[in-house]
Amino acid sequence: MHPAGQHVAAWRHSSGYPDAAFSMDYYRQIATIAEAARFDFLFVADMMGIRDGSMNVIVRSAQLTLGAEPLTLMAALSAMTQNIGFIVTQSTTYSQPYSVARQMASLDLLSGGRAAWNVVTSTQMNEAANFGLTQTIDHSVRYERAKEFVEVVKALWDTAGVGVFIGDKPSGILFDSEKLRPLHHKGPFYTVDGILNVPPSAQGRPVLVQAGASGPGRDLAASIAEIIFAQTPTIEAAQEYYADVKMRVRDKGRDPCKVLMMPGFTPVIGCNRAEAEAQLAELDAMITPEIAVPMLSDMMGMDLSAYDIDGPLPELEETNKSHSLGQVIKSYAERNNLNIRQTAAWSASSMSHNRVIGTPKEIADRMQYWFENQACDGFLISPLIYPGGLKQFADEVVPILQERKLFRQEYEGNTLRENLGLAGS
Ligand SMILES: Cc1cc2nc3c(=O)[nH]c(=O)nc-3n(C[C@H](O)[C@H](O)[C@H](O)COP(=O)(O)O)c2cc1C
Repeated sequence: MHPAGQHVAAWRHSSGYPDAAFSMDYYRQIATIAEAARFDFLFVADMMGIRDGSMNVIVRSAQLTLGAEPLTLMAALSAMTQNIGFIVTQSTTYSQPYSVARQMASLDLLSGGRAAWNVVTSTQMNEAANFGLTQTIDHSVRYERAKEFVEVVKALWDTAGVGVFIGDKPSGILFDSEKLRPLHHKGPFYTVDGILNVPPSAQGRPVLVQAGASGPGRDLAASIAEIIFAQTPTIEAAQEYYADVKMRVRDKGRDPCKVLMMPGFTPVIGCNRAEAEAQLAELDAMITPEIAVPMLSDMMGMDLSAYDIDGPLPELEETNKSHSLGQVIKSYAERNNLNIRQTAAWSASSMSHNRVIGTPKEIADRMQYWFENQACDGFLISPLIYPGGLKQFADEVVPILQERKLFRQEYEGNTLRENLGLAGS
């Protein structure tokens, strides 16, 4: 979720919350709705700084500007919930493996095994500047670092192994020395010598999430991820991504059934199509090109301001940001014959994810179709506006999916890994 909603103008709507990203009560409400609907997890997108872009954009956008840091947020929410999982984004470019291993293991321990780490390499210049750099690290180097970073974190998670806690009062032995095995890691990017000072959780260790979409990104995801997030606005793009990444997973000797692909999905729900379209149109009318075009420029990693707004998107340029997102957006625009103005409006209203407009049954039909046609294993449900859009999805679409036995009635277990069907992996 983006706290106010997937739509860039969500916070301006009569039912929207401009201060969504600052309010514990608001997040508690979202987590309660999601848990009552038996969602697997809650995920809030995050960066290590304010998004890149002009002040003109920043002062108009609730998305990735000002808000609470998600590890702190999720820790608080985990104390208010029982079953739902929490995915926290942590950057491999601007953190240290020991700190991430410790923080994620702690959230996992204290939440009873409900934590997951979204591994990101960070694309924004603002993030680089916040950490003393004058430019972002090269895309391929970011991924090399990420690979080693995750290896070190996983190895640290094994340094205080399962069964380490004995707590034997008569003998006075609290921990098993056999299960405390220091890591001696010396690699191209990181040197770590020691034992993680957090024991395993009820699910062992946090679930690993990744969303790489370029070649190196897909390889990293295939090597380490148990959940893979995707930004695929069409079923064709989703099927290509699904087939390619599952093949890479198989090539790495992993079980493709234990790696779950989840594209972003924005349901726009109405009693009939016209009502759903009217809801979207009302929000779209609140987007201005002053915000939409710079946001599109940032997503594509190229400045679009010099081009005719009513003309087609130009050829893609080399970028050190996402190597894949520009491609996704350009092929969507070409396929639908959209000019820059229309592409920017579409992107600002959907964040370039798949969006379905229709009745609850039509939404459920489309989800079923994607699920049964190798486009995904699940969805990141991200309504136009929170909390109203989430409540509507929970009340009107979830029961249809349950009726069709496509979605659970009850949580299967106590941990995130059990609920995802990944226990033992
Ligand atoms: C659903 C989804 C959520 C993402 N969340 C974040 C996030 O919270 N923070 C972040 O820096 N990047 C996030 N990303 C970006 C990815 O980590 C990655 O940079 C992007 O998919 C491009 O991949 P590439 O670097 O291989 O081109 C997200 C991507 C997707 C599809």
